[in-house]
Amino acid sequence: MLFQIKFYLKFLLKSKNKHGIHSPFVYQLVSDCFYDKTDKKWYKTLHRYRKSLLNNHTVIAIEDFGAGSKSLRSHQRKVSDIAKNAGITKIRAQLLGRLSTYFEAKHILEIGTSVGIGTAALSLSNPNSTIITLEGCKNTATIAKENFEFFNLKNIEVVVGNFSSTLAQTLNNKTFDLVFFDGNHQKQPTIDYFEQCLAHTHHNSVFVFDDIYWSKGMQDAWQYIINHPKVTVSIDTYYWGLVFFRKEQVKEHFVVRV
Ligand SMILES: C[S@@+](CC[C@H](N)C(=O)[O-])C[C@H]1O[C@@H](n2cnc3c(N)ncnc32)[C@H](O)[C@@H]1O
Repeated sequence: MLFQIKFYLKFLLKSKNKHGIHSPFVYQLVSDCFYDKTDKKWYKTLHRYRKSLLNNHTVIAIEDFGAGSKSLRSHQRKVSDIAKNAGITKIRAQLLGRLSTYFEAKHILEIGTSVGIGTAALSLSNPNSTIITLEGCKNTATIAKENFEFFNLKNIEVVVGNFSSTLAQTLNNKTFDLVFFDGNHQKQPTIDYFEQCLAHTHHNSVFVFDDIYWSKGMQDAWQYIINHPKVTVSIDTYYWGLVFFRKEQVKEHFVVRV
């Protein structure tokens, strides 16, 4: 907690709004996507999707994927609690959807489905995309799949299993426009998933990392990622880190208040 407060204060000192950004690419992204306050038709359905989970008090046995990505223990949790605690927030879900439409993403990978709030945002905002989402806990994945069906979200494939095997199988021969890293928030797994996904990018791909200040380990992983020679532009929004591979850009790091 102290760690997070210290880093948040540092972030506040360093961060800028769009007026302090000199890169046209980043300026446009920030003003047209991050700061886009216009209401979107799909926000209403996303709200209903979240609401239905928050009102679902069914108890399921969940498998916790802990240290070393091993399935450590199984315990009981309400779907509503999973949606509240593990699910992406409303504001971030809306931004995720806007990012997908802004970059016209066609092939999307989400690492960490949970009950599918982020996946629903990606699907509703951009129904012509194809989304593959990975989840280790079978029962959690079943809740997500049932909800995708109920809300008629057709462009989603859920792959169930530990990322340690499902990620490589999923990446096989594919290229992704957008990858959302939102599972197993630990240093080495985050670096490993980043390295694995790197070979499946193109010039305009974007990677979004959740909770880059969640722990010292996640901050170390983020530093590793932004210093990687293949990464050109990187953006720290405190909650998320975004990286790009555009070769015409000089390597530059931005700290932006969203
Ligand atoms: C933070 S939640 C994902 C939230 C979701 N992206 C959203 O937008 O609401 C992370 C999920 O990743 C799964 N997970 C974590 N480590 C995993 C691993 N090694 N293999 C498979 N699933 C894992 C957890 O079961 C959990 O459901």
